[in-house]
Amino acid sequence: MGKIITVASHKGGVGKTTTTLNTGFSLSRFGQKVLLIDSDPQGGMAMASNLKRKTEKGLIHLLKNEVKPEQVVIPTKDRRMGILGPGITEPEDVFFFEMEARKGNLGKIITVISEKFDYTFVDAPAGLGGIVTSLLSVSSSVLVPVNCSSISVRTLPVFLKLIRKIRAKFNPGLMLEGILMTLTDESDSCTEIFEEMQSNFPAGVILDTCIPYDESFERAGLKSIPAGMLKGAEEAAQVYMNLAMELKTREMKGKTKEGDEDEGLF
Ligand SMILES: Nc1ncnc2c1ncn2[C@@H]1O[C@H](COP(=O)(O)OP(=O)(O)OP(=O)(O)O)[C@@H](O)[C@H]1O
Ligand SMILES: [Mg+2]
Repeated sequence: MGKIITVASHKGGVGKTTTTLNTGFSLSRFGQKVLLIDSDPQGGMAMASNLKRKTEKGLIHLLKNEVKPEQVVIPTKDRRMGILGPGITEPEDVFFFEMEARKGNLGKIITVISEKFDYTFVDAPAGLGGIVTSLLSVSSSVLVPVNCSSISVRTLPVFLKLIRKIRAKFNPGLMLEGILMTLTDESDSCTEIFEEMQSNFPAGVILDTCIPYDESFERAGLKSIPAGMLKGAEEAAQVYMNLAMELKTREMKGKTKEGDEDEGLF
């Protein structure tokens, strides 16, 4: 079974959607089969990838049993990634969607669809609500973007508490993929925040890769494409390539650790 990584954060506007799209795109360049799921009723990823030009249908139609996954998981032109949107067009759909998430049906659908992919990245809505809880209950791990601001950092413990509670109650296998510092810059305050974060968490919790503020992401966003497909955005694209590489390396190290306990041949 593939890995389900939910990209979630207690704060809005910290780069969850940008991270989902660009990390998924980078891993697909490494030859991995990637599915991107937009679970935000506001449709951040669906917009960031221009999904709506292909279909308005998505998770909500799967929840209503109106479509089959192959009708709503839209392949990218190069067929290296599949993208599934929320399919929410009416305000009343949001309530139904949240209810289905609370009942565990959203999680069940995601678990089934993710089986055909190496990595499923789920773009979560901001906050600690029912949708996020249901996603984390079925995820292999959670990647938490935190922007370089004191308010984001100070409110992070509540979100980490939610992760621990979900692990204890519903999903003992839930891992923290890592905390990803985003929208970083060269300012003294950002350097101070970053150093404070590193000293407050055990080694390895804060990912080595940081995502600097780079207006190329905004330009790529305007075109609804990952930075890796935008001319002149090579630096921006490279940071997400580095992140994908770091995640892969950590995963392989984790596997080696498991292997140590086996009596295998390697
Ligand atoms: N590293 C970056 N440098 C500059 N702009 C960025 C960067 N990352 C994201 N952005 C821009 O910041 C805005 C918010 O990013 P994004 O939508 O990814 O955040 P989000 O956490 O998904 O927000 P929401 O909580 O509203 O879903 C977008 O306009 C995006 O283009
Ligand atoms: Mg978003």
